[in-house]
Amino acid sequence: MEEIFVENILNKALKCHSLNKEEIITLLQYGGDKLIHTADNVRKKYTGDGVYIRALIEFSNYCTRTCYYCGLRVENNKIHRYRMSVPEIISAAKDAIEKGFHTIVLQSGEDSRFKIDELCRIVEEIKKNDAAVTLSIGEKSFEEYKRLKSAGADRYLLRIETTNRELYQKYHPKMSFENRLRCLEDLRTLGYEVGTGSLIGLEEQSVEMIAEDILFFKKINADMIGLGVFIPHPDTPLGRADAGDFELARRAVSVTRLILPDINIPATTAMETLKPNGRLLVLSAGANVVMLNAAEDTEHKKDYSIYPDKAGVNEGLEESLAGLKNSLDKIGRKIIVSKGFRYNNRGG
Ligand code: 5AD
Repeated sequence: MEEIFVENILNKALKCHSLNKEEIITLLQYGGDKLIHTADNVRKKYTGDGVYIRALIEFSNYCTRTCYYCGLRVENNKIHRYRMSVPEIISAAKDAIEKGFHTIVLQSGEDSRFKIDELCRIVEEIKKNDAAVTLSIGEKSFEEYKRLKSAGADRYLLRIETTNRELYQKYHPKMSFENRLRCLEDLRTLGYEVGTGSLIGLEEQSVEMIAEDILFFKKINADMIGLGVFIPHPDTPLGRADAGDFELARRAVSVTRLILPDINIPATTAMETLKPNGRLLVLSAGANVVMLNAAEDTEHKKDYSIYPDKAGVNEGLEESLAGLKNSLDKIGRKIIVSKGFRYNNRGG
């Protein structure tokens, strides 16, 4: 019975790239291999077989926030905190560019020590090279986002984490869902390519809530969607919770690809961490982007412990790049040298 439903829903998605909540819920529950396969075809048709690579620089693990699931939360005093200096960040970015990366992703906890002038200087320096700059540094004011954009930043990643208000409020004490939405709106107004996404597998998160997240991605016409599966971190309030369901998160990637066919979707590190070969499995289910950690300092990588046993922390950038090339070969895909904007996928 579900088979027929699934088939009909997939046909509708292929025709109009739009689905209602019930249809999304059915795919998330029963989509199976047909869903994965259809999403893989849509990915191929709209973005090709190329995989965009991004170099990730996690420049500070200080954070003023208290998100229940995250190892960087301010109340975790077991973690060793580090903060790279401005010259260190710039030099790490230049190294990655020399190694062939055309997008630098600068990520940190919400570290109030970095003033906007400093952040702008970092962006300006990196933009002197032929590279796109993506920021992932949390909630800021319109004015701050504007200054960073003027400094040359191209993209911004800010996951909504969950679009369910009650769940959001529960896991993000002292934060406001409205402000999160305001940030995403401001980023869009300012002309950034906007990336958002959710955590899949939080306790009390229903399939219906995940369907609502996906509809939200469509509503704001996000340019990039990162979906991570929840992995419990022992030094957080959710340390004893179960990890999220890898297959459900993978199906969420596929459904997102069906309704936003030309966007960029990374195979996230959380997926690789939870399951061996997770990255390839997600790349075969609709994803077309991989972010590789560019830090030369292994200690920093270990200390950026959002969740435990993060995949790839013991490798250098060249090693991870070689590993990625190797595994992409196996699935007939290849790294593509490009800044990898969404409009590249539209033949732009
Ligand atoms: N498991 C998986 N992903 C997590 N993140 C934070 N904590 C965890 C966890 N325990 C994700 C959040 C954040 C991104 C940088 O890392 O979704 O946006």
